[in-house]
Amino acid sequence: MIVVTTPTGQIGSALVPALLDRGQRVRVIVRDPSRLDQEVREKVEVVVGSHGDPAVLDEAFAGAEGLFWLIPPDRSAPSALEHYLAFARAAADAIRRQRVGHIVGVTSAGHGWSEPAGVLSAAFAMDEVLAATGAAYRALSLPFYLENLLGQLDPIVRQGAFSLASPADQPFPAIAVADIAQAAADLLTDLDWEGQQNVPLFGPDRLTPDQMADVMSRELGKPIAFAPMTIEALAAGIRSRGASERAVSDTTEMFAAQASGIYDADWAVAETGATDFATWCRTVLKPRMEATSVRS
Ligand SMILES: NC(=O)c1ccc[n+]([C@@H]2O[C@H](COP(=O)([O-])OP(=O)(O)OC[C@H]3O[C@@H](n4cnc5c(N)ncnc54)[C@H](OP(=O)(O)O)[C@@H]3O)[C@@H](O)[C@H]2O)c1
Repeated sequence: MIVVTTPTGQIGSALVPALLDRGQRVRVIVRDPSRLDQEVREKVEVVVGSHGDPAVLDEAFAGAEGLFWLIPPDRSAPSALEHYLAFARAAADAIRRQRVGHIVGVTSAGHGWSEPAGVLSAAFAMDEVLAATGAAYRALSLPFYLENLLGQLDPIVRQGAFSLASPADQPFPAIAVADIAQAAADLLTDLDWEGQQNVPLFGPDRLTPDQMADVMSRELGKPIAFAPMTIEALAAGIRSRGASERAVSDTTEMFAAQASGIYDADWAVAETGATDFATWCRTVLKPRMEATSVRS
């Protein structure tokens, strides 16, 4: 039995069908089962609740051989570290109680970075808590998800521009969500691994944001420009939405660490996902843009 957290999320919703296709028995933890795909709902065991709740975790982990673990992002959390540690400690206690043997966790690339890195440091703290259980652990260590760009559909469509807090001429590390789900499915299908390892996983390109804009323009058939965003502008934007100073620094430290090369060491040795940026633009971004234009 494989337990999957966040089955309605980007990665989880791709992972569950992949595991079912491979003949795995799957149990999901979900707050609202009506948000599951109908076909999926008929094929999985469902434990209703949050995977931050110890009672829910005990019910879900009973008899489980493998676990897909992902902490939901919460931009309104007063502290990323406290948010990650609360989920991770609840999981670790239940992993020990229920003797779950194998865990695949979603975390950030950049382990070993010595400076504060905000949300990324919180993810590294989660890894330590999970590793301390003694279970076999594979920490899928990831850079920026290409799907984050879907949050910029409006400026891409209306202004022909996207922005990142990254220099225009510096290769920008990223990964497609489909490739993360594939890697998790591979690990959870064959539990013949032991010990604890980080598994850095990056996309196959080494494009700068300016080069990404060129690829996007070609694939979308319209000119798209890259508009760099400063960390100060980013902080002002988060503050104006009412975030606490700690939440602002969790995000700005993360982007500062990214711009300073937190991913470089992992990028040099990473496993490579299959989806290049051009393919992602063609198969994910363009259909979403077309669906948005039809609706508006
Ligand atoms: N985005 C990036 O560039 C990046 C890079 C590296 C690592 N990461 C990590 O990747 C993870 C995000 O993955 P994702 O994009 O697949 O997530 P996602 O699509 O945002 O999904 C979030 C999931 O969490 C569930 N959820 C939300 N709040 C919850 C709560 N309080 N209790 C229980 N479940 C809750 C949601 O379910 P319902 O709302 O349906 O209940 C949903 O299934 C984060 O841990 C992040 O740190 C992200």
